Amino acid sequence: MDRFDGPARLMIVSDLDHTMVDHHDPENLSLLRFNALWEANYRHDSLLVFSTGRSPTLYKQLRKEKPMLTPDITIMSVGTEITYGESMVPDDGWENFLNHKWDRNIVTEETAKFPHLKFQSETEQRSHKISFYVEKEHAQEVIKALSERLEKRGLDVKIIYSGGMDLDILPQGAGKGQALAYLLKKFKSDGKPPANTLVCGDSGNDAELFSIPEVHGVMVSNAQEELLQWHAENAKDNPNIVHASEKCAAGIIQAIGHFRLGTNTSPRDVIDFSRLQPESPTPGHEVVKFYMLYERWCRAEIANSEQHIQHLKNICHPSGVIVHPSGTERSLYSCIDALGSFYGDKQGKQFRIWVDRVSSAQIGSNVWLVKFDKWELSDEGRQCCLTTILLDSKPEASKGFAWVHIHQTWLDGYQARVPTSWLF
Ligand code: GLC
Ligand code: MG
Repeated sequence: MDRFDGPARLMIVSDLDHTMVDHHDPENLSLLRFNALWEANYRHDSLLVFSTGRSPTLYKQLRKEKPMLTPDITIMSVGTEITYGESMVPDDGWENFLNHKWDRNIVTEETAKFPHLKFQSETEQRSHKISFYVEKEHAQEVIKALSERLEKRGLDVKIIYSGGMDLDILPQGAGKGQALAYLLKKFKSDGKPPANTLVCGDSGNDAELFSIPEVHGVMVSNAQEELLQWHAENAKDNPNIVHASEKCAAGIIQAIGHFRLGTNTSPRDVIDFSRLQPESPTPGHEVVKFYMLYERWCRAEIANSEQHIQHLKNICHPSGVIVHPSGTERSLYSCIDALGSFYGDKQGKQFRIWVDRVSSAQIGSNVWLVKFDKWELSDEGRQCCLTTILLDSKPEASKGFAWVHIHQTWLDGYQARVPTSWLF
């Protein structure tokens, strides 16, 4: 959050399963579209917040399975755990606050009396969240009877039903909505309330997000019945909430356009980059575009034409070099010349590139130092290079930026398992 000084231009607070992440799309296309949009246009001045029902254990598992970005803030276990940054520093103040009228032992004692409640896995039982499965037909009666019992025992709890099967019991002050309200209050007291906030969800535990004042909200097209019903009963006349016609992350992109929160053209949707006019040409935009071209070239999704090679030469400095993660150094021009034999090399195969955590600093009047994680998913698995580049923002040859230097090192645990011929 120290990446920029002022308030966020946009803060996106998104649920993960079936909202940001589409479990029915093995290609993860809408997620990759969102990633490119975010890193190109929003990362430098906006905040990404993931708000999930998953515990830290299952959240980390999902990050290994899906091409997800690194959020600025992670809210886990249905708004009971808030952490900051890549290293996930917990907000202890929040957890202490949740102890009010909460006693796990009483909850387990009382829930044991309900045979329809089946415990979820041990990883999902957290200090301020106790979770069960319950079939749809029993849910309402169980919730009613259980609330009465817990109230009699002096607790003030919240019972949330999601996805037509999950039942979570949390302290009354917890939940995705309360956690967001807590963050917004914190930003306001620092004098940095986000200019716009967009909440995104698909199921019961997301409903609270939509009742926070002054936020825009999108229910993705595939939203669960329980969320749509909550909306019909509580918020149907609220113009700040939209039910997208697109699924998952595509619905989020759609909502950015619907509420006019900024550009919603993902570089992944752009065929001809010379026609794309970014709001402001940022280093992030430059990096996303470069790797899009490289991916499409290897997948043979653009024409095998000299024009693309020439374009890359135009944006690279003639004496620029790349230091590969193996430590070998090569000139940028020679890598571009070698591209010819890579055309279509990944055609019909699994091959995607995405960048994460793009950050940049202007270190001279024309010089930018840009850092990001370059991820590559192929049939050989997942690889990641911590990448640093130097961009010259006033080259003679072309408008925009010139790539002067690229330096890559492996991210621990994500080096290539087999030696690969490597270009960028
Ligand atoms: C996630 C959690 C689970 C919870 C559900 C609904 O799936 O893993 O514990 O019940 O979200 O909030
Ligand atoms: Mg969900």
